Amino acid sequence: MTLLDAPTLSPSAIALPSVARIVLIGFMGAGKSTVGNLLARQLNWGFIDTDAWVEERHACTIASMFSQHGERVFRQRESAQLARALGRDKVVIAVGGGAPEVLTNRLLLEQTPATTVIFLDAPFPTLFDRCVLQEGAAVRPVLLDAAAAEQRFQQRLPIYRRCAVHSVATEALAPAATAQQIVQMLG
Ligand code: S3P
Repeated sequence: MTLLDAPTLSPSAIALPSVARIVLIGFMGAGKSTVGNLLARQLNWGFIDTDAWVEERHACTIASMFSQHGERVFRQRESAQLARALGRDKVVIAVGGGAPEVLTNRLLLEQTPATTVIFLDAPFPTLFDRCVLQEGAAVRPVLLDAAAAEQRFQQRLPIYRRCAVHSVATEALAPAATAQQIVQMLG
């Protein structure tokens, strides 16, 4: 069996007592949205991508927000959408790679009951290649300068580790296998 054809559990087989929200954190390219979608489907829960909510709410792409208003405005908008997402039950939430760096967001994650934070971990070169190969750096303004992006990655690593109750090393795992590992960890 390869990683790609790892079996998925049927939604009816999975119940996670005392968990109402699973939040996926990690650097850009970690697979938060892809894994989050798969995980939500397995659990029969909703899926929220806070980046998509920010873009939808403000009818503007993140890249344009950065260039028109700066990162600070984006971060305020991101916190507002994270708070909104954490108001929902039975949801998997993928947050932007920089969200855990903001104290307000860390407090929201810590203080929202029945919320489990999971860190999707992978080495920087793998993450950078995935993002740039997939979509080009322009979609993610933080990647425009590779050296600065790596510095951010190093700064964020200890924050990701502190915020999360579980980490999954995703470098050698397909998204479906990562989702399955999360279900097993929590179940
Ligand atoms: C960012 C990550 C992006 C997005 C924004 C800033 C960051 O989300 O929120 O471009 O600072 O790491 P993804 O991690 O989903 O790509």
